Amino acid sequence: MQEKTIGELCTEKGIDIDLFLTIAQLHIDSTDSFSYDFKIDDLKTIVSYLIKSHEYYSKEILPSISESLNHLGTVGNDITYTLLLNFFSVYKEEVDKHLKYEEMYVYPYALDILKDPNYKIKEYKNHHPDIESKLIDLKNLLIKYLPKDEHQILKRNILIQLLRFEKDLNIHTIIEEAILIPLIEKKEKQ
Ligand SMILES: [Fe+2]
Ligand SMILES: [Fe+2]
Repeated sequence: MQEKTIGELCTEKGIDIDLFLTIAQLHIDSTDSFSYDFKIDDLKTIVSYLIKSHEYYSKEILPSISESLNHLGTVGNDITYTLLLNFFSVYKEEVDKHLKYEEMYVYPYALDILKDPNYKIKEYKNHHPDIESKLIDLKNLLIKYLPKDEHQILKRNILIQLLRFEKDLNIHTIIEEAILIPLIEKKEKQ
């Protein structure tokens, strides 16, 4: 199999290599100050990345966390396990709502702001709900409030899943707040 360079792959997929490297770098060192100068033309690639990560969250990450928690709930014999499951199911609904709103209003607007002349990105900027902090509560429930010294492997695995999701969500939010919104604002002023 012939190996391709990142540059070749980016050209093949029509992605600006500097944009690709900036987003990739975010996964190593999350920051909201960039040396790359984002352009309105980058919106298509950015939105497609965000949509793909939504898909990843709703089809892979959340179902697998849910599966692990359900498993823990069936082996654990204490009311706190049920509380944990309920907390997660409410959280999951909240995340679903968040993702759907962005897919229905924000991302289409980013691609074509003329399509919806009544919408303004300010609404989203001022009310972009935080879906990360409940993950901290979830981690706390898992670490502090479940019966100690039982099902440690299961709990540790869930904790790792939550930590990974939290990290990815933080990067996702940086992209939405520090890249997407400013670009849309720039587009609105044109
Ligand atoms: Fe999003
Ligand atoms: Fe978001």
